[in-house]
Amino acid sequence: MVLLDIIRKRYSCRSYQQRPVEQEKLDQLFEAARLAPSAKNTQDWRFVVATDEQVKRQLATVTNRPDVFEKAGAIIAACSNSDYIMTCGQPIGPIDIAIALEHIALQATELGLGTCWIGSFETQKVRTILAIPDDIEIIELMTVGYPADTPKQPNREPVEKIVCYDKWKF
Ligand SMILES: Cc1cc2nc3c(=O)[nH]c(=O)nc-3n(C[C@H](O)[C@H](O)[C@H](O)COP(=O)(O)O)c2cc1C
Repeated sequence: MVLLDIIRKRYSCRSYQQRPVEQEKLDQLFEAARLAPSAKNTQDWRFVVATDEQVKRQLATVTNRPDVFEKAGAIIAACSNSDYIMTCGQPIGPIDIAIALEHIALQATELGLGTCWIGSFETQKVRTILAIPDDIEIIELMTVGYPADTPKQPNREPVEKIVCYDKWKF
């Protein structure tokens, strides 16, 4: 598949087959994450991957869709140990994590896997479940698994509404 086709095919998968994701596929996802760019090439991302049924169930319970997410083959907790703020005033932690996670989501799509970003979770409970130290930021969770639904058409604004050239014209 060419990249734009993969991007078009990715969607938030909220229905999974109760089936593990093969280790070799997980390895490919984290190879995609590893190769993501990061500010100053700090690579300050750490991924805790829940594949054990009990750990996944515990994690799913502290999200907004426990019944859906617990069935995914894996739930990734994407963490950052950076508190660096760039000259532009933006923190690198969430930005670098977002890029790496989207690499994972696109690679997963290419492998026939579904993903869903999860920002609706109880941070302290995730920290306890996964034994993540207090000085590490838990930025996002992401499910990965074999879809039990079919890809949805993206609902997006037309390009004219989101892009202008040379000066702000919105
Ligand atoms: C940073 C971020 C956080 C999100 N958090 C959640 C979430 O907690 N639960 C959920 O079901 N979907 C979540 N989503 C998925 C979005 O709702 C979804 O990407 C958006 O509606 C567009 O749909 P699509 O991904 O199917 O194209 C999140 C997406 C992003 C990028």
